[in-house]
Amino acid sequence: MPTLPEKLQATLGAIIPGARLQTMTLPDVPELELLLLSPDYPQGSLSEAQMQRVMNNPLYWVFCWASGQVLARYLLDNPAWVRGRRVLDFGCGSGVVAIAAALAGAQEVIACDIDPLALEATGINAGLNKVSLSLSDDYFSVPGELDVIIVADVLYDRENLPWLQRFTERAPQVLVADSRVKDFNFPPYTLLGQHDSCTLPDLDESAEFRDVRLYVADSTGYSGIGGAS
Ligand SMILES: C[S@@+](CC[C@H](N)C(=O)[O-])C[C@H]1O[C@@H](n2cnc3c(N)ncnc32)[C@H](O)[C@@H]1O
Repeated sequence: MPTLPEKLQATLGAIIPGARLQTMTLPDVPELELLLLSPDYPQGSLSEAQMQRVMNNPLYWVFCWASGQVLARYLLDNPAWVRGRRVLDFGCGSGVVAIAAALAGAQEVIACDIDPLALEATGINAGLNKVSLSLSDDYFSVPGELDVIIVADVLYDRENLPWLQRFTERAPQVLVADSRVKDFNFPPYTLLGQHDSCTLPDLDESAEFRDVRLYVADSTGYSGIGGAS
């Protein structure tokens, strides 16, 4: 019986031959380590069939996205947003933001992703960082009230934009980190901060995708609790 990390490694190797997973510390969030794609992954040598497999099976969880690093850093620096609260991380990927919320003192963190492999990776990464998370593959089946929804790099697909409204209908506070939508104008969301970061392993993305903006929608009137920066 392969262990979970071995299963994830086998999945990765079947999609990108020669690629391997490695535990990495995040440059902007050194408190945290994640099992991610090793930076020595074979670049530029994928055949057309391999490239097709990558496109058909996007392994978002093998990266920590720039927005994820920024929101994780922000929560650790401004724990009042999540401390003692029930938090949902939408599109958790590797689990980076969910783990940061747990480390910042959230009462419960639900890590939600439609990709079952992302949830497995998040479970492994939670263990690496000695935090406990709840996992969900379906936002709508998460029971109970949520205090805060946290979201990083989910707007890469504009079809996900309607989620912004669903979040504000569900929770009084929503924090969104994004570097993809440059015409972001979705009231009641307002700009909370702006930070330069990068995806890990570094995908050498253009400067515009390293420019991460943090947005907040807050119906409690306490937007300042975390200290906007
Ligand atoms: C680019 S990754 C970001 C991962 C992580 N938040 C980070 O910043 O590193 C986007 C993630 O959103 C997930 N996702 C996309 N649509 C979703 C949906 N409707 N419900 C839950 N997760 C979704 C994808 O499966 C993927 O894991």
